[in-house]
Amino acid sequence: MADPGGGAVCNGTLHSQNKDCHSENGTVREAQQNGNSNFYKPIVESFEEAPLYAVILTYMGYGIGTLFGYLRDFLRNLGIEKCNAAVEREEQKDFVPLYQNFENFYTRNLYMRVRDNWNRPICSAPGALFDVMERVSDDYNWTFRFTGRIIKDVINMGSYNFLGLAAKYDESMRTVKDVLETYGLGVSSTRQEMGTLDKHKELEDLVSKFLNVEAAMVFGMGFATNSMNIPALVGKGCLILSDELNHASLVLGARLSGATIRIFKHNNMQSLEKLLRDAVIYGQPRTHRAWKKILILVEGIYSMEGSIVHLPQIVALKKKYKAYLYIDEAHSIGSVGPSGRGVVEFFGMDPRDVDVCMGTFTKSFGASGGYIAGRKDLVDYLRVHSHSAAYATSMSPPIAEQIIRSMKFIMGLDGTTQE
Ligand SMILES: Cc1ncc(COP(=O)(O)O)c(C=O)c1O
Repeated sequence: MADPGGGAVCNGTLHSQNKDCHSENGTVREAQQNGNSNFYKPIVESFEEAPLYAVILTYMGYGIGTLFGYLRDFLRNLGIEKCNAAVEREEQKDFVPLYQNFENFYTRNLYMRVRDNWNRPICSAPGALFDVMERVSDDYNWTFRFTGRIIKDVINMGSYNFLGLAAKYDESMRTVKDVLETYGLGVSSTRQEMGTLDKHKELEDLVSKFLNVEAAMVFGMGFATNSMNIPALVGKGCLILSDELNHASLVLGARLSGATIRIFKHNNMQSLEKLLRDAVIYGQPRTHRAWKKILILVEGIYSMEGSIVHLPQIVALKKKYKAYLYIDEAHSIGSVGPSGRGVVEFFGMDPRDVDVCMGTFTKSFGASGGYIAGRKDLVDYLRVHSHSAAYATSMSPPIAEQIIRSMKFIMGLDGTTQE
């Protein structure tokens, strides 16, 4: 799949690079002229466009649904139509509304019509096929009741079990069962107190070996890995440059940090370079002091669009402007690159070019939790300063074992690979 540095990504597949493809970015061209051309080759992505009629019909349906929504809300206000959604209590009618916002309107009037297609409880492992609990609604999707019937072997189009490792295989799950029996399920303490187990050490050593970095630290939740560690790295007087399509956990972490946040257009190097240049020239607003730190936040593969980060260009820019790079590989680690080591490997780059490597174990590894990896100093710093290390319980041992088993499987170290 990989064509490090020399390929174009089209609809998720790599195609050989057209000679006419040129760099859109001065930095890239400059880097190419500096003789490091393979490293800085541009990435060209193309995405299938929805047909015009589909776009028009979708917007029309949305518009009609919204109009009917207003009509129904009007009827609800008159008491003609019943509303089962959260509404203000009668005795609090003169309060500022707690529930009235657009999201609520959308949920009540548009989502409710199609709700039976979503949130379907499943009752088996999330493999390629899974079992779904049958449910029916007697009140137009406001509430559901289970019939007790199980719909077997439904095609799973919704889980992010990229490599199928979340599905149950009797023999390979044995080690997870053994760990469960030895350690139990919960650790009941934080990493900084009594919550660091030999299993965590084993996993962290394996993660750093897998990523080819000096050290790694694991956390019990992927979302919290971003939201609790970004504030440990940046704060007031620092600047975060964030891709506009970054995941909510990165956005929350950035906001919690208290740093100034500026958004650049998705994967757009001109937009990023302009922000970097302005940041270096003008410094902080009002005082014009230099920013204490500049941190660029990006993802490896963007979760909603499936686009890939333009890593070589971003690394070139971060070096030029002396900024730090934080990359969230939730969707790329384990599944991108010749041996699954993510976008850094995909582009044939050096892991040391990324200051903070972050990823989650929920997608390719069929488990839960996240990691931060990179230089030993960075990881040692987070062991002391991360809110997650101090205040959140550490990763469950059977989960750690599931990640170890999945990672060894990807690395060919699980004993099933023949020489
Ligand atoms: C890019 C990205 N980062 C972080 C997360 C949060 O990870 P988790 O679901 O493991 O908590 C997600 C979740 O989908 C994600 O897409």
